[in-house]
Amino acid sequence: MPAVTLETLNIRSIRELELSNRRVLLRCDFNTPLDEDGAVSDNSRIAAVLPTIAHIQQAGGRVICCSHLGRPKGKKDPKFSLEPVAEALAELTGQEVLLPDDCIGDAAEHLIANQRSNQIVLLENLRFQPGEEQNSDDLARKLADLCDVYVNDAFGALHRAHASVSALPKMMIDRAAGLLIERELSFLGDLVGGAPAPYIAIVGGAKISGKIEILEALLEVVDGVIIGGAMANTFLAAQGHEMGGSLMESDRIPLARHLLKRFADKGVAVWLPVDMLCVEHVDASAATQVERVGSLSAAQKAVDIGPETIALFTSVIDGSVEGGPGVPRTVFWNGPMGIFEIDAFANGTLSVARALARSSATSVIGGGDSAAAAKKAGVSEMISHISTGGGASLEFLSGAQLPGLAALRGGRR
Ligand code: 3PG
Repeated sequence: MPAVTLETLNIRSIRELELSNRRVLLRCDFNTPLDEDGAVSDNSRIAAVLPTIAHIQQAGGRVICCSHLGRPKGKKDPKFSLEPVAEALAELTGQEVLLPDDCIGDAAEHLIANQRSNQIVLLENLRFQPGEEQNSDDLARKLADLCDVYVNDAFGALHRAHASVSALPKMMIDRAAGLLIERELSFLGDLVGGAPAPYIAIVGGAKISGKIEILEALLEVVDGVIIGGAMANTFLAAQGHEMGGSLMESDRIPLARHLLKRFADKGVAVWLPVDMLCVEHVDASAATQVERVGSLSAAQKAVDIGPETIALFTSVIDGSVEGGPGVPRTVFWNGPMGIFEIDAFANGTLSVARALARSSATSVIGGGDSAAAAKKAGVSEMISHISTGGGASLEFLSGAQLPGLAALRGGRR
């Protein structure tokens, strides 16, 4: 499969649009985590859109941002207000951010009509309107009335067929992808075809069941795959190992066996854990033991990969593993190696993050947990690209048609 780009998708870039004196509705993914005081605790999704905001303003356009936050289920709920996002956006841009009390209606119309070029309007949470998740044409039309141009930079929401992502762009003649989506595709678009070999994927997390499509897609394009986290337990059980009390999906053992066979048939190397860090109770203060795969007692649960596995996985990433495909030129990582949120069980995941940071390969992280692990390891800056999309990046790499990209196709040329 060839690499996917805006051009192959027939989607215009914002760079191709005339923006002077035009009202630009910018769909963002400002679905950011909040701390217990209700303030934004990680502003990376907001920071990621700043180049697009600057581009619009430099071209003489006015910026109207819109986003969802959480899942308020079509009702106004102050807990899900974009107010903390407005504060973070004002801080990052140094500009005044105006937040009407709804994404449509008089207040929004009034603010936009009187908006100055150095002000940003941020519409209130789109999901306060039931029509957003229903992909309603009526809501889309009301949003279309607020703007002259539509730009989507909400990479993390592209897999949602919602009004602001799907129905709305189809109504706009002037529609385009923003600079964040352009950047995301410049990395992720290569990973579905044409990534420089050797290409290694590192897949972890709890379950195989949520990752069947991505594993099947990866086996067509990678030279090797490292499997860690609780999902590795199911693969190890499929190889006949006793996994004690470890988390696994017994009903997926036949699927794991099938996938291992397909990887082998394709000549794709698979590396699984050879030892693991185990506890009897999943608790930060629990006593830990390192056990070789196959020697876990019924009471033991794997919570991280063990030291030999860390050495094996890092040698695959740095290209020194015996019989491997050589020094990787592309590495994609999704999913932790253990329960890394607990410091005592984080060594495997953090070691993988550091190995990726040291690697000379183009390194791409997709998925919130791996991105959080890179941050915890202090190596985010050393990764070539950390996708802002969790579910969206996985669906894209699985080869799914994302509704948000489908709706951007075409438009005025
Ligand atoms: C995300 O955080 O993955 C996106 O913002 C989509 O959010 P959703 O899963 O609530 O649709």
